[in-house]
Order: sequence, then C-alpha cells, then structure tokens
Amino acid sequence: MVLEFKRIDRDTLSVMRDAVGSDVDYYSLCVDSVEDVLGSGDTYILNSANSCLLAVAEAVDDCVLVCDQGGWNGFIKSCEVFGKKVEYLPTDDGLINIERLRVYLEDSDVKSLYVTSLAGYTAKQPLDGIKKLCDVHDVLLILDISGSVGDESVYEYGDILIFSTGSPKIVNIENGGIIHDRTDRIQLNRHMLKSLKADNITCAGISHEIGKAREIYEKTVKANKYLKDRLMKELEENCDYTVIHPEDEGLNTMITTPSKGMAKKLAYNIRQNLETTGNIITTGPQYNRIKKASIIIETKNLHIDSLTRENMDYIVEILCSEINKMKK
Ligand SMILES: Cc1ncc(COP(=O)(O)O)c(C=O)c1O
Repeated sequence: MVLEFKRIDRDTLSVMRDAVGSDVDYYSLCVDSVEDVLGSGDTYILNSANSCLLAVAEAVDDCVLVCDQGGWNGFIKSCEVFGKKVEYLPTDDGLINIERLRVYLEDSDVKSLYVTSLAGYTAKQPLDGIKKLCDVHDVLLILDISGSVGDESVYEYGDILIFSTGSPKIVNIENGGIIHDRTDRIQLNRHMLKSLKADNITCAGISHEIGKAREIYEKTVKANKYLKDRLMKELEENCDYTVIHPEDEGLNTMITTPSKGMAKKLAYNIRQNLETTGNIITTGPQYNRIKKASIIIETKNLHIDSLTRENMDYIVEILCSEINKMKK
C-alpha cells in the first residue's frame, strides 16, 4: 500500500502547459473564478500567500492580534518587516475562547486580528463569535482560509480573506496566493500588488483547480475525522498519547507525546515504515500547529485518491505499532 502525496493534478498541469506563451488573460479569468467561489470583493492573485500577507501587513493598522499558537508565523514575520506591533492571544491549544477574546479586546488597543480558519489545520475557529466581537470593537478581521477553501460556511466572516494555492494545499498549484478584500477597509499598496503579482501559468492552474476545492475539502475532512475517531479509540487507555481537539473537524490529526524527543523519534520511525510518496508526518511543538510535544498526521498532504478508509486504517496500524514499540 502506497499513500500518494498531493501533486498538481494532471488535467491542471495540462491547462498550465497550454498557458505557456498564450495570449489569453488568465489573470482576469482567475479573478472571475475566485469570485465565483468567494462572492463579491476585490481580488488579487499574487505569487504566494506569504506575499499576500506581506501586502496586507503593510496596509493594516496596529496593534495586530494573533493566536499564541495554531496560526501562521509568516504573517507575524511580515508585521515585523513593517514594524507593526503584534500581540498574542492565549488560546486553548490554538482555539480562540470567545470570552477571553472579549475581555482582551475591551482592555487593549487592537486594530486588526489575523486568524487561520482552522487552528493548526485541526479544528474550526468559532468564527461567528470572533466576527461579532470584531464588529463591536471595530477590529479588522484578516481571515486565512488556506485550510477551508471549499467550505463555504467561512467565506462570510473575514474583512480580508487570504489563501495559499501552494503545496500541499486544497487548491494545489505549488505557487500562488489570493487576497479577497470584502469590505474595502484597507488601502493595499499598488506597487506591492504589481510587484508580487502571479504569472499567467499559475493563474491558469488556479482557475482550473478551484472548481474541485469543495470535493477535496469535504473528502479530506471526512477521512481525517475517521482517522481521529479511530485513533481516539485506539489510544483511549494511553494518557501519554492523546488526540488534540478530538471532536473537531479539520485537515490533520495531532497526537501528544511524552516529550519533544519522543515526538521526533516516533515521527522518524513512522516515516521509515509508512509507504508514502512524500512526507505526511510533522512534529510539535511548533507555532503553526501546536506548542506541545506531538506528532501530526497531515491528512491534507494526501492526494484525494489516497483518502480511503483502508489507507486511514493503514496509518492507524503503523502509528499504534510504533507507539507500542516506544513503550517497550
Ligand atoms: C495557513 C497558511 N497561511 C499561509 C501560508 C503561506 O503560503 P505560501 O506557501 O503560499 O506562501 C501557509 C503555508 O503553508 C499556510 O499554511
């Protein structure tokens, strides 16, 4: 059994090849296809989501609030480039607690909040409550939906929506990022937007691939939920290894380990035994996932054809066997 790592789909590659040297304005086509999915707003296609975040960081008012973990450090680095003040909101393993956010916003001078729609790619943020508080306190909500393209329930929340079409992502082109400005509350720097603009080939790829986002998102969430549920049962008796946010839907599965060293060792052993065409195991503590010793099965890195029950059972089998060996 070999698990296939996500690569650019063949049909999309063929569309991208056709775009080489073509006179077609794929940029405009791409803007239209993104707006078909996200709705109305001003859309910019750049060469990566980090470029999008750089352009947004330049334009926002500080102080900027971010989660203390489970976010994306690329945005924090961008804020540093422009000398914008960043504050960290304490979370519950990446998830925002609405009451804590309410108290924080009442007592602080926060002007912008950056949040990823999924905490660490593993659990949905309570976006409705977050949005309501941002409205009350006149805080600009920058919502990174890299983990939720295809989940239309999240599109209504951000003032600014951002997502990556890099690899391995839901819209998987190995390049590109989107800014979708829904409320026109910030003035993006024209020179940056022009300098960081995506090329015609990337735009052709995104326009073609974005139509598959919903199916890919839904299949990944379903496979990952099955994986989480199975691992929860298998690890029930084992307090050293527990599933983080076990009931929540996301695109990966995080399991705590007794130490950082054990996480590294376990990840290495799993990689040695799990037949894959690319890496699907990462480890914590890390800001972009969770600040706890952990191993993370990145279900989102798998090609849609590999998201089968049999493959999830195969991952459970290897993982549990390696955990059992660690105990001996
Ligand atoms: C949530 C999130 N935002 C932004 C980025 C940056 O994307 P890019 O590689 O397109 O710069 C990533 C990359 O993994 C990400 O996971």
